Amino acid sequence: MINRRQFLYLAGAGAANLLNVHALPFTKAAGAASDRAAFSPDVELSLTASPSEVQIFPGQPTTVWQYSGEVIKGDPNCLTHLKQSYLGPIIRVRQHQKVRIQFQNSLPATSIIHWHGLHVPARMDGHPKDVIAAGQTFTYEFEVLNRAGTYWYHPHPHGRTGHQVYGGLAGLFFVSDDEEEKLNLPANELDISLVIQDRAFNRDNQLVYLPRGMHDSMTGMLGDRICVNGKPDFELAVKTRAYRLRILNGSNSRIYKLAWSNGTPLTVIATDGGLLEKPIEKKYVIIGPAERIELWADFSNYPVGTSLELVSKYFEAAMQGSAMGPRRGMMAGESLPNGAPFSVFKINVTKKERESRSLPQKLSTIERYQLQDADNANSPRQFSFFMRHMHGLINGRTFNMQEVADDERIRLNSTELWELANDDPRMGMMMPMPHPVHLHGKQFQVIERRGTHHSGYVDDGWKDTVLLMPGERARIVTNFTDYKGLFLYHCHILEHGDMGMMRNYLIS
Ligand code: C2O
Ligand code: CU
Ligand code: CU
Repeated sequence: MINRRQFLYLAGAGAANLLNVHALPFTKAAGAASDRAAFSPDVELSLTASPSEVQIFPGQPTTVWQYSGEVIKGDPNCLTHLKQSYLGPIIRVRQHQKVRIQFQNSLPATSIIHWHGLHVPARMDGHPKDVIAAGQTFTYEFEVLNRAGTYWYHPHPHGRTGHQVYGGLAGLFFVSDDEEEKLNLPANELDISLVIQDRAFNRDNQLVYLPRGMHDSMTGMLGDRICVNGKPDFELAVKTRAYRLRILNGSNSRIYKLAWSNGTPLTVIATDGGLLEKPIEKKYVIIGPAERIELWADFSNYPVGTSLELVSKYFEAAMQGSAMGPRRGMMAGESLPNGAPFSVFKINVTKKERESRSLPQKLSTIERYQLQDADNANSPRQFSFFMRHMHGLINGRTFNMQEVADDERIRLNSTELWELANDDPRMGMMMPMPHPVHLHGKQFQVIERRGTHHSGYVDDGWKDTVLLMPGERARIVTNFTDYKGLFLYHCHILEHGDMGMMRNYLIS
């Protein structure tokens, strides 16, 4: 009984004793008072993480952990709360704005917020060493240097990230800029965000996390209910217009192979780090945890009354048939393994309206890195990701809060080639697994991918997360500018990160 209760999200301070809380004996506030005075924010927000309840199903409400926010200074529209959703508010800022965010931790657990995809100073990045205890606050201050794009935020306490994100702690972070604005893309009610997450619920409508313990940690938590913006069986009413659909795979470990149910190709206009150079058409797109894609979806040729689904198609996740393979039908999650097909959400065309927009053929200018742009073009850094004996490893090493190995030290302003390899075997005794590899602090370009038998990746544009199926490897290039300090790189299957498939790199 105690065991089962551990995985639920309990309200109230008494819950802290039941949860496996890693309380750390210190708290930190960002910046000395003198720094604080020098920083004059254009936008100031407060974000509070606390236990809360949402009505997801009829009957008993679901206890979740949730971010809620308030605008202290700046445009009141820079925060949008989604109705009846556990997701945190959408934060909207412009490039070059200075942002101050006061984080209040009202959870019965230590936590810290990470700004996924944003290029911020190391001490503003939400490194797990900077966690704050229950009841404490942390002040973030940074200038938004990123180009326009769909970024997001989530907690990052080591060993607990999977649990906290799953409990509801996540939100979108939109950046806009002049380049994007000139395109006059569908905006306001034509700009729709869709956060896709899978969840498992018990009979009392409560979230269930890792019901099978270590087995679920190895595969990553998989739920059998697909939620969009926190709602199962999500439906979207659209007019006969063109829409911008911003999609975040906010799942702990599920991979989606997205396609339109009627066979129309997907028109992709942006990825993790914003707009592509030009739109590309794909029969399907595969996105791993933390990845984003933006679609141009034009319903102007559909008669009113049409319905359409965004589906996730079958794929081979290379996880079946192994020694640790799932036993069928045991518990939540079993019924929907990674790679199983399902509907993600349904679109209903409900209203006729004249469309005036057309898809821009050029979206942006991106200077593509070439291999020879890297200072280490002939000797790429090699990072190999695999699971061994219930540990997540990178080059055979597991996470250690402050540790940096020799091959993890980087010179400020260098341009580097990294080769990331998923070295989990495709077959045999071990359970091979996908690893979506994420770098903190920087957007990068994927210049080459090897060993793949999928054609659904969008490797163009700027990325902060690259999905590697077993046996796949990718070469990425980026330049490490502006900020020195300790940043993370890790697998974004959150349970793998929590099991140590995460390391520091140090820019100095
Ligand atoms: Cu979304 Cu450490 O990352
Ligand atoms: Cu990140
Ligand atoms: Cu992994």
